[in-house]
Amino acid sequence: MQYIIHRYERIPSTSDLAVTLAEGGAPEGTVVIAGSQTSGRGRHGRVWSSPAGSGLYLSLILRPDKPFADLWQTAFVLAVAACETAADLSGLPACIKWPNDILLNGRKICGILIEARKPGHDLRSPVIAGIGINVNTLEFPPEISRKATSIALETGRQTAVEDVEDRLLSAVDRWYTVYTDAGFTPIFTRWHELDCTAGRTVSVSTSGGIVDGTAVEVNPHGDLVIEHPDGCRTSVSAGEVFFRD
Ligand code: BTN
Repeated sequence: MQYIIHRYERIPSTSDLAVTLAEGGAPEGTVVIAGSQTSGRGRHGRVWSSPAGSGLYLSLILRPDKPFADLWQTAFVLAVAACETAADLSGLPACIKWPNDILLNGRKICGILIEARKPGHDLRSPVIAGIGINVNTLEFPPEISRKATSIALETGRQTAVEDVEDRLLSAVDRWYTVYTDAGFTPIFTRWHELDCTAGRTVSVSTSGGIVDGTAVEVNPHGDLVIEHPDGCRTSVSAGEVFFRD
């Protein structure tokens, strides 16, 4: 993939800008990177704290040649790429918490925000992938300090944010090429190898309420399947997983 990089010292949100660029017809491979964000956005309307020097804040426009209904698959492509990047940089076994949180030693090191838009400009529908990686953060806000970590906290050393950017963009290019050339099956296989959700006792916060049980598997639609104590199962297509064991 040919990357076209737009680099800023400080902007409200790389994803806000990337959405605007995508709606204006920006091509696949357009990347927005900021040294810091003043209104970084996380999933479920949360804030993504984005101070200068602490993390990588990047949003990428993809236009996969797939039906709109399959665009969720790109979240899995990016999770695999980000997970391998985190493992590579830290030398530690990173894993994926469904759908696309990357954990090191059980704590979140990277979050991915996927936004799809309906097609315009006679182009393929864009997917805007916002990726935040905690690189050199040594202290997190109290409300997330028990759940979040950084490469620095896990390894005891600082890493150049540019190095993280290079490795992430290489991994995304590699796995996106696999996806476009060979389809979703090899992505899903690799995603399962990196998954640390299946088998855990979980509570999943969804728009319809909390779903409790054991995470059994992620089905071919990308849904998390939860088994309840009575053996009944619920499939969840979106939500946030909390480990209870
Ligand atoms: C999550 O909540 O897990 C997703 C976090 C995504 C944060 C990134 S940082 C770069 C991009 N710009 C944003 O405003 N959000 C994403």
